[in-house]
Amino acid sequence: MSCSDATAGPPLWLLAELTYRCPLQCPYCSNPLDYADREQELSTEQWLDVLRQGRAMGAAQLGFSGGEPLVRQDLPELIAGARELGYYTNLITSGLGLTEAKVQAFAEAGLDHIQVSFQASDPELNNAVAGSKKAFEQKLAMARAVKEAGYPMVLNFVIHRHNIHQMSDILTLCESLGADYVELATCQYYGWAFANREGLMPSRGQLETAEATVNQYRDDLRERAHPMKVIFVTPDYYEERPKACMNGWGSLFLTVAPDGTALPCHSARLLPIEFPNVQSMSLEEIWYQSPGFNHYRGDSWMPEPCRSCDEKDKDFGGCRCQAYLLTGDADNADPVCGKSPHHDRILAARTAAEHATAGLDDLVYRNTKNSRVFFRK
Ligand code: FES
Repeated sequence: MSCSDATAGPPLWLLAELTYRCPLQCPYCSNPLDYADREQELSTEQWLDVLRQGRAMGAAQLGFSGGEPLVRQDLPELIAGARELGYYTNLITSGLGLTEAKVQAFAEAGLDHIQVSFQASDPELNNAVAGSKKAFEQKLAMARAVKEAGYPMVLNFVIHRHNIHQMSDILTLCESLGADYVELATCQYYGWAFANREGLMPSRGQLETAEATVNQYRDDLRERAHPMKVIFVTPDYYEERPKACMNGWGSLFLTVAPDGTALPCHSARLLPIEFPNVQSMSLEEIWYQSPGFNHYRGDSWMPEPCRSCDEKDKDFGGCRCQAYLLTGDADNADPVCGKSPHHDRILAARTAAEHATAGLDDLVYRNTKNSRVFFRK
């Protein structure tokens, strides 16, 4: 590992996590557990400067996320700035806080794409998981408003053991709303989702049933020549080889957290690595020269079994955050891999999922109180 990497390409994908504030309380949120103690946020001018620097380095895709990015009152200004710089922009939102007027303002500012997330196919479960009584109705209204403004309707559902039986109902709902793209993303276990893993992880049987339902629905859409596209992201906990997380550390993705901390992925903040802040270093220095971004570039850092593995150029040793969460050492092979000496952690999680009995009330919901009571550092 060197302290600068002249061979690294530019960050093509920039994720601006504008804020950790959010009106919802989803127990699978990927934000840091101690987010409530991280209230500082970059100013409008600082964000615009980050966007300028990123674009100058070659970044082309820009995601606005959070928390809930809509709580930032300067969002139209940031969108307009990004548009002027030539980014392709995507707003990742719960739809809470959105209005028809805001959708219109974002369209006028040049926003390219809006993704609205749902928690379930019915108001009871949706609102229970979101921790908000009005969430479902609002999401329905805003999904329609997004479509009416001329955007493709892109809906996202995080799938876990409490809604995985709803696949057919979810897809029927999406179809009735006129969705163009549906992403069924099985929960990834980072942040709050890792803390709640036992209560969220589906069993293999649940997963297989869900996959069969989705495949059947897709066949049906095809037969009817229906244009709705369905993506089903299955969990790596049921794989024998790890995912190529972030397409390799520091290879394409650059996340900037609300306080300006620059990260190679949305979860890296949990690692015992010091990451730079855009307030004290240029984005170019951060990307090419900071020890944090160079830490897991290339393969010289890899121990066995990754070092001699003939798949290391394909999966880059898997996910560093997952290795850390499951083994306490981010250098280890991702335990998802069947060759990892720590694969037993994944097998134990699968076994626990077979016998899990936790209900929605047993989950730790993502809110300021829980962040301070359970997870204050
Ligand atoms: Fe951080 Fe995979 S989520 S490296």
